Amino acid sequence: MVSTSSAEAASLRPGIKAPAQETLLTPRFYTTDFDAVAQMDLSGHEDEIESVLAELRADYNRYHFVRNAEFDQCWDSIDGETRQAFIDFLERSCTSEFSGFLLFKELSRKLKGRNPVLSEAFALLARDEARHAGFLNKAMADFGLSLDLGYLTKNRTYTFFPSEWVIYTVYLSEKIGYWRYILIYRHLEQHPEHRIYPLFKYFESWCQDENRHGDFFKVLLRSQPKLWNTLGGRLWARFFLLTVFVTHTLTVLERATFYESIGLDPDQFNKDVIRNTNETARRAFPCILNTDHPTFFLRLNTCAIANQHLAEIASTQRPAVIKLIQKLPWMAVIIWQMLCLYLIPSVNAEQSRETVR
Ligand SMILES: [Fe+2]
Ligand SMILES: [Fe+2]
Repeated sequence: MVSTSSAEAASLRPGIKAPAQETLLTPRFYTTDFDAVAQMDLSGHEDEIESVLAELRADYNRYHFVRNAEFDQCWDSIDGETRQAFIDFLERSCTSEFSGFLLFKELSRKLKGRNPVLSEAFALLARDEARHAGFLNKAMADFGLSLDLGYLTKNRTYTFFPSEWVIYTVYLSEKIGYWRYILIYRHLEQHPEHRIYPLFKYFESWCQDENRHGDFFKVLLRSQPKLWNTLGGRLWARFFLLTVFVTHTLTVLERATFYESIGLDPDQFNKDVIRNTNETARRAFPCILNTDHPTFFLRLNTCAIANQHLAEIASTQRPAVIKLIQKLPWMAVIIWQMLCLYLIPSVNAEQSRETVR
C-alpha cells in the first residue's frame, strides 16, 4: 500500500534512477481490450469527436515545451528533504505521463486501419504525453538523475483494464491532472517567492493539454450509454471517483514536504483538487460524490493516517510475516473508511449537466 520511493535515489547506472518500488500508490501501466475499443459505436457523436480532434490537431503547445535559459543553473540550493521530495514529485509525474503515452501509443497502433478516427486521436494524445514525460525527465536530469524510460517500458508490469474502466479512469486522471497543474500554477503566480524551480511556469498551457485529453474521454464516455444510464454505470462511476480521490489524498499527504516546499498547505491543496475534479466530473459522469458531506474529508484523512502507519511498518527490518500482521488493522481501517465513503449517497449529475462548467 505504501511507497518507499522517498528512500535514497538508488541508481541503476550513474545518473539513471532506479524506478521507485512498485506499490498500489505508484502510477501504473495499463493495457486494455483493443478490439472492444476498435468496435466502439460512436454514431451520433461524430460532431463532438470531430471538434475535440480539431482541438488536438491544432497542437497549441507545439512550441511550449522548450527549456529556457532559466533552467541553466545549479540546483544544489534545493537540498535535503526538499530535494528528495522534489525528485519524488518529478518521478511520479514523469511515470504517470509516460504511462499515458504508452497506453495511447498502443491504442493508436492497434486501431490503425480499424478505427482511423480514434487511432488519430490516440496518436495526438500520445504526442502530448511524450512531450510531458520528456520535459519532466529533463527536469530530473537537472537534479543529476533521469528515468530510463526504455527500461521502464520493458520491466514494469502492465495492469489489464477493460475498455470501460479505461474510459472512467483516464477521464478522471486527465481532469485531476488539469486541476493539480492549474492550482499549483495559480498559487505560484500569487506567491512567486515559492517558485523554486522554473518548471512550474509551464503548467498553465500544459494543463490545457490535460483538459483537452479529458474532454476527448468525456466524448467517449457519453457516446456509450451503458457507462452512464445504467445502475452498473453509476456504481462504477462512484467507485472510480472514490479510488482516485483516496489515492490522491494518500499520495499528497505522504509527500507533504513537497507541497510545503512550494508554500502550499497539502491538506487544503488535496481538498481543492478533489472538490474541483468532482465538480468537473459532473459533465461526464452520471453521478458525483458528495464532498460536502461532513465526514467526507475526515474519512479520507483517516485513510491517509492509516497509510502513514503502513509506511512506517514497511520501513522496519522486521520479518515479513510480522509486518503483515501489524499492517492488517491499518488495512482494515482503509477498507472500512472506503466502504463508508462509498455508501454516502451520491449526487445525481444527469439533472444538472447543462448548468455547470
Ligand atoms: Fe500529460
Ligand atoms: Fe494527458
